[in-house]
Parts: sequence; structure tokens; C-alpha cells
Amino acid sequence: MTELTARPWLSGLAPYRPGAAAPSAAGSLSSNESALGASPHVVDAVVRAARSAHRYPDALATELRAEIAARHGIPTEQVLVGNGSDELIFLLALAFLAGGGTAVCADPAYRVDEISTQVVGGTVVSVPLAEDQHDLAAMAAVPADLAYVVNPHNPTGTLVPRDAVRRFREHSPAGLVVVDEAYIDFAPDPLAATAVPLLREGGLAVLRTFSKAFGLAGLRVGYLLAPTPVIDVLSGIRAPFSVNRLAQAAALAALRDRTHHEAVRVHTIDMRRRVSDLFTRHGYDVVPSHTNFVLVRVPDEAGLVRRLAAAGIAVRPGSALGVPGAVRVSVPGDEGWRHLQRAMADPGMLPRT
Ligand SMILES: Cc1ncc(COP(=O)(O)O)c(C=O)c1O
Repeated sequence: MTELTARPWLSGLAPYRPGAAAPSAAGSLSSNESALGASPHVVDAVVRAARSAHRYPDALATELRAEIAARHGIPTEQVLVGNGSDELIFLLALAFLAGGGTAVCADPAYRVDEISTQVVGGTVVSVPLAEDQHDLAAMAAVPADLAYVVNPHNPTGTLVPRDAVRRFREHSPAGLVVVDEAYIDFAPDPLAATAVPLLREGGLAVLRTFSKAFGLAGLRVGYLLAPTPVIDVLSGIRAPFSVNRLAQAAALAALRDRTHHEAVRVHTIDMRRRVSDLFTRHGYDVVPSHTNFVLVRVPDEAGLVRRLAAAGIAVRPGSALGVPGAVRVSVPGDEGWRHLQRAMADPGMLPRT
């Protein structure tokens, strides 16, 4: 029998580590989930869809893709739905990086962009952030197959203006610029910030997720807007039924409930300011955020993570995200906010070196 060995490039891979759980949902501020949950219409839609659980889902999520396409004013052929945007990132790697391709990412990057590249035997070129922002001039100097621009960025929460993305697209030698807009709904003016209008200029793709503003992280739905040839390649290599029936129904219901979506946006922006102010008042530096989390610089990262955990609040240590000396705090709901305020009132939470 042949000895079974994993491909050699997989041996040094650092796997993705999800955020720690807290004793309560309100105190779970480590994974940037929606503090207000999903639209109430989602629950009804999921219950209805569950009655047909014995039937395979629509492989290409036709109705959902059509609704997404109409929402963005682009043809349905330019939309692909995935099992979270993470699946789509892996498909991009499989199609365009397998066996020696190169992806250029910011450093720190969204971890899945790096992991997916390494999994398929590609190379990641990491370009350090400049003042917490993508250094697009330096990234444009890197010959690459894919260039990832996470906008707004995770873990810093910074936003690159659309014109800068356009200039990057013009100057980067990358075959495809992938703009990951997981958090774009929390930017002050998402329509002005999004790269979707750049799609018609070619060479660019936009990733979106239902996990953040739509509150469907547990159901796993994301989508890619891209030139039709890119969508065709990915459609041909994907697992046929990766987006299940409940997830498709939920995403449609979430997309149609504009009132809930706007309430989440307003709540998040208001609460983000309160969380930023709370940490600033305590003497911490906070990176101005355009997302549903804030990055707080802390002299004693492990200590603050431990003290918050003891108070029932889970946050993400910056070291796990490539920003040592920081913690990333997701925007809470009202109960989580009261919890966080109580915890931070303890003098032990003040910055320590
Ligand atoms: C920048 C970024 N892209 C993609 C994702 C993953 O989204 P999904 O849940 O759709 O896989 C996340 C999740 O945290 C993220 O931060």
C-alpha cells in the first residue's frame, strides 16, 4: 500500500482559528456577527424551506442570484453564490492560484485569503499596511495573479476610497483584483464606497457576505460579482449544492427586508461610536472604524483579553490577526453594551504595561 502523505506545502500551514466563545451571545464580541440578528422574515422563510428539506437545493441559486443581480444592476451571469464568501475565496484560489500562482495581500490580511492561497500551493506576497491602510502603491508593484483588497479592512476597519481602488486596478499587474466588501454596509456611504461600479471596467471582482449586516453567519451565504468568464470557471469547479435550501431562502428574505438592514446599519454605526469612545476614555488608542468592530491598541493584549474573558466577554486578540498589541472588539447589541460598560468600569481594565 502506498503511504498516504499530505502534499508537502501543507505541512507548515497555520490553520484558521475562530474567535473564542463567551458564556452568553451578548458577550460574544470576537467574530463580528450581527448584534441585532437576522430579519424576523428570515425565520419564517427558513421554516417554509425546511418543509422541502428532503429535496436538493437549486444548484445555482437562480432566484437569489437574480435578486442580487437586480440589486446591483448587473447581469445574473456575473453573480455566483457560495457557502459563505469563504467558499468563493477558496474557489478563486483553486481556479487561479493552484500549482504556483501568486496572491498579493495586505499584511495583516484577512486570514482566509492567505490560507486558501497556501492550501493550493500558491505564494502569498504580503505588503505591510501603511498607517493601518492598504499600501496600494506598494501592492501595485507586485506581479500577481490575484490581488486582495479588503475594503473596509479586517482587522483594522479602515476604508480605501473608490478612486484609489480604481487607480490600483489600472496600475496593478494582477490578473484579477478581488475587493472583499464584507463590511461595506457599515461605511458612512456604502454606495459611494463600493467598487461595484468598477465591474464594468473589467479585471475586478467584488465579494459580499450575508454574515454581517444581514445576520446570517450561521447559515453560510456569500456572493461574488465578477466578469462572466471568471464566474463560468468557478461555477464549473464548485461543489454543486454548496448553498443549501434554507440558506438560499434566508438570504432572499434578508435581502428583501430593507427596513431591518437599515436598522442594523444605524445601530452598528451608533454603537461603534459608543464602543470607540468607551475605550478612548479609558486611555486606549482606537483605530477609526468603518465596520462592525473596532481595533483597540493595548499595551497588555493578553492581560486585557483575559480580564474581559473573566467578565464574560470574548474579544479577538490582535496577535491572532497579525496585529500584536491590539484587541478587536465586535460592536455589541444593547445587552452586550451594558455588559461591556460594567466590565470596563473595573479599574483593572485601565491600560497596563
Ligand atoms: C473580510 C472578510 N471576508 C470574508 C469573511 C467571511 O465571510 P463568510 O461568513 O461569508 O464566509 C469575513 C468574516 O469575518 C471577513 O472578515
